[in-house]
Amino acid sequence: MNISGNTILVTGGTSGIGRALAEALHSKGNRVIIAGRRQALLDEVTGRNPGMVGIAVDLSDTVAIAKFAESVKRQFPELNVLVNNAGIAGLEDYTAESIDLTRAYSTIQTNITGVVQLSAALLPTLRAQPKSTLIVTTSGLAFVPFPPGPVYSATKAFMHNWLDAIRVQLKKTSVEVLELAPPYVQTELGGPQQASDPRAMPLEDYTSEVIQILESNDIEKGEILVQRVKPLRTAERDGKYQEFLDMFAGMHDE
Ligand SMILES: NC(=O)c1ccc[n+]([C@@H]2O[C@H](COP(=O)([O-])OP(=O)(O)OC[C@H]3O[C@@H](n4cnc5c(N)ncnc54)[C@H](OP(=O)(O)O)[C@@H]3O)[C@@H](O)[C@H]2O)c1
Repeated sequence: MNISGNTILVTGGTSGIGRALAEALHSKGNRVIIAGRRQALLDEVTGRNPGMVGIAVDLSDTVAIAKFAESVKRQFPELNVLVNNAGIAGLEDYTAESIDLTRAYSTIQTNITGVVQLSAALLPTLRAQPKSTLIVTTSGLAFVPFPPGPVYSATKAFMHNWLDAIRVQLKKTSVEVLELAPPYVQTELGGPQQASDPRAMPLEDYTSEVIQILESNDIEKGEILVQRVKPLRTAERDGKYQEFLDMFAGMHDE
């Protein structure tokens, strides 16, 4: 994709990776729309970035997504980049007497159903542009699961698989399909402690490497992979899958 001159919708633009990407893309000369549930943060981010627009929506609610997509199409018929970045994470304990799946269900709803529904609703708009891009934020955990978070990891593997399939379907259209697979990054996805976890990649470093990759347009097989996530991406091929799985299990036991 071109790094400037686009109209870009970034879901999950109120915090973490989405906010950092939205701000970076705004500063590169794009019209950026952010979406998320927290109105106060939408106001804060758009206030700091004049020209950016914020729209409140709950992307785990199928009725709300349909209304949101209609309103985006009406207000921004020139939309040519959709960044499906909103996501939540959770842990499940399958050794428990009673396994609580409440968070797991909303994770599936937000990370899978919401992304598929919003993409389907906005693809006709993207296809109508001469050059457009559909991006989904997956994770390095799409390639090796984090044992304490089975559903979260599987939602990301699902989206990786889905992206590979729709990329083939959309090959002859104007829509480029990209996967953004971050490594462990300093955000509050897994709780406030993650934002300062020294094992996680600093958010600023992650964002600037992603912008460099987008600017270079050197995106192999449609995957935006910073150096730090590459060992996970190729773990299976490199015979390191079990090693990562054991390491992740150990991280949780610490
Ligand atoms: N940080 C990491 O280590 C890491 C690694 C790999 C992949 N990722 C992925 O990166 C993406 C962004 O996560 P992050 O790390 O930046 O965490 P974050 O700071 O918690 O950001 C999550 C974003 O998603 C939005 N969101 C969540 N549920 C939503 C809903 N129902 N409706 C609308 N928006 C919703 C949140 O906005 P509101 O709360 O305002 O709704 C927030 O802006 C996620 O898809 C995550 O899975 C993160």
